[in-house]
Amino acid sequence: MTRPKVTVVGAGQVGATTAFLLLQKGIADVVMVDVAEGMPQGKALDMMHARSVERFAPVVSGTNDYADTAGSDVVVVTAGLPRKPGMTRDDLLSANGSIVRSVISSAVEASPEAIVLCVTNPLDVMTYLGWKVSGLPSGRIFGMGGVLDSARFAFAIAEETGAPVTDIEALVVGAHGDAMVPLPRFSTVAGTPLTELLPADRVEALVQRTVFGGAEVVALLKTGSAFYAPAASVAAMVTAILGDTGETLPSCVLLEGHYGVDDVYLSVPASLGREGVRSVAELPLDDAELAAVRASAASVREAVAAIGL
Ligand code: APR
Repeated sequence: MTRPKVTVVGAGQVGATTAFLLLQKGIADVVMVDVAEGMPQGKALDMMHARSVERFAPVVSGTNDYADTAGSDVVVVTAGLPRKPGMTRDDLLSANGSIVRSVISSAVEASPEAIVLCVTNPLDVMTYLGWKVSGLPSGRIFGMGGVLDSARFAFAIAEETGAPVTDIEALVVGAHGDAMVPLPRFSTVAGTPLTELLPADRVEALVQRTVFGGAEVVALLKTGSAFYAPAASVAAMVTAILGDTGETLPSCVLLEGHYGVDDVYLSVPASLGREGVRSVAELPLDDAELAAVRASAASVREAVAAIGL
């Protein structure tokens, strides 16, 4: 049996953790590519040493050469700088913009058939940039933001209610940044919407904890940003893609009139499969929720314009 091949660009915290999760779950063979010489090779060797302990079947290698990534089914882009305390994701705009431009061109040249999953921040802008640079159809290049933000919302709800995480469905749409849009009406504990379970001020506190969940991690780490939950979120999306499951996950996709938004990448629920985005869901949002999504889109559009796209 030939296993699928996943290239992870950037073998840093998010990239290496993603690679290890994909291996442990038996999802795909993995190639990690990075500019740092020896580092991806060293991490790959370390993971291969773990193989007989964890008893996973896939293999991983590290490289500095995109030729080794050729023929990948999925390319995950994590190359770039992470946030430091006090920085917003938008502060990373110009540095990460030039990195993303170059790595996506190289990776897509080596794997023209791949699905490309962007992770580098500021996510919505980098995904849009990657789409423009790659020339890929929009359904084949999208980003990881909503799964992570929804997971953080689920965590906040679990902390507040004491409910098991397995009883919680949480949904966050919009930009992966301060303008994200947690949706309490569409987030449930054992089937009951949050808006019917908690008073409005408690719901708002959970929304705020979600929006600043990433910053909370950055403030504690001091040297970088979150990587376990981001990597888990990427692995969930790659699993849906390679398994061709059609699972609906909040994904950073190109909106083309959906929710009254056009020509902006933003997280909304989308069905994922082997061809990439199968379809984009149109949630029955009320006026306030729609306004929040459109404000979120406006913030991304402004950042996109700032890098001259
Ligand atoms: N080509 C390949 N790799 C690169 C390049 C490049 N041009 N430029 C930087 N890198 C690599 C770095 O060498 C480093 O190993 O990207 C990796 C980034 O890893 P970390 O610094 O550990 O950052 P990480 O926490 O993984 O975050 C990466 O994901 O969640 C986002 O905001 C986060 O944008 C950041 C990205």
